Amino acid sequence: MANYLLTGVAGFIGGALAARLLREGHRVIGVDNLSTGFREAVPEGVEFFEGGCESAATWERIPPLNYAAIYHIAGQSSGEVSFEDPLYDLQTNAQSTLHLLQLACRLNVPQLIYASTMSVYGDQPDRPILEGAPTEPKSFYGVGKLASEHYLRIYAEQFGIKTVALRLFNVYGPGQNLANLKQGMVSIYLAQALQNRHIVIKGAAERFRDFVYIEDVVQAFLAAEEMTQSGYGCFNIATGVRTTVADLVAAIQKALPFESTTEFVSGTPGDQFGITGESSAFTQASGWRVATPLDVGLKRMIAWALSA
Ligand SMILES: NC(=O)c1ccc[n+]([C@@H]2O[C@H](COP(=O)([O-])OP(=O)(O)OC[C@H]3O[C@@H](n4cnc5c(N)ncnc54)[C@H](O)[C@@H]3O)[C@@H](O)[C@H]2O)c1
Repeated sequence: MANYLLTGVAGFIGGALAARLLREGHRVIGVDNLSTGFREAVPEGVEFFEGGCESAATWERIPPLNYAAIYHIAGQSSGEVSFEDPLYDLQTNAQSTLHLLQLACRLNVPQLIYASTMSVYGDQPDRPILEGAPTEPKSFYGVGKLASEHYLRIYAEQFGIKTVALRLFNVYGPGQNLANLKQGMVSIYLAQALQNRHIVIKGAAERFRDFVYIEDVVQAFLAAEEMTQSGYGCFNIATGVRTTVADLVAAIQKALPFESTTEFVSGTPGDQFGITGESSAFTQASGWRVATPLDVGLKRMIAWALSA
């Protein structure tokens, strides 16, 4: 049994990862400010601390255990919100990361694994991109995540801690927040279909994304922790499969047991037109592979949403 500190434990990805760590018999200290997460979503067995990761006061309350790793998952994750309040985005993302890195050094935690994003890339050519592609974020959200990656890299270089940034592409699956209509393409379209039988799509139908199923993402975090490499690593967590918005919406509509209509309106600022990723570097480093194709994952998510 090992001790883990996990932020964002009341959210979609953090909750799923915490549940998996608990199932494996570990002790999980979880932190969340419940800004987009829910207290009820914190898995039973997590020792929960409500607080903001950007605040030093939160870290003074955390038990100084012998942690095997920190999983830093918390953060606001909407490009749209980052334009509404760039300062808030900076605090919740980059400032929080800095606090967690300081804490890792203070408590001698050997590694920190971070939930970064494909938003660090900005617009890219229409082919799966590798980690060495230029980073030119189009949103303040992407800027904050990219800054966090650089903090991770410098902490690894200067203080000897192992740090890993996982650039998550579009994550979806059971447990995603169907009440948050500003983050998560699959969850936004599905939630609207369920609530109104009408899907409003912000931006063009030809935009495209790379959708990764939640269980594959949880597996990626565990694989990152198990990697024996030291220093800093930065990896895409993607499938390489290109899915247009039109295809995604059609697949959701087809899988639902009722008809729904669609409407296209203008896009949100900072939205990438299209992006897919190549994860061969992470496969080579950790053995991780995508296990769940989109049609299988969508079926599971829709079954969960219909029964919720
Ligand atoms: N879902 C995706 O497709 C995706 C893609 C790329 C990256 N990410 C990153 O993964 C992480 C988790 O995303 P998610 O989809 O689970 O979102 P989520 O909103 O469900 O979970 C985020 C959690 O963090 C908490 N939180 C936010 N700011 C906080 C702060 N300052 N202090 C403490 N808690 C805070 C929220 O209350 C929430 O419970 C985010 O950092 C996000 O940027 C997600």
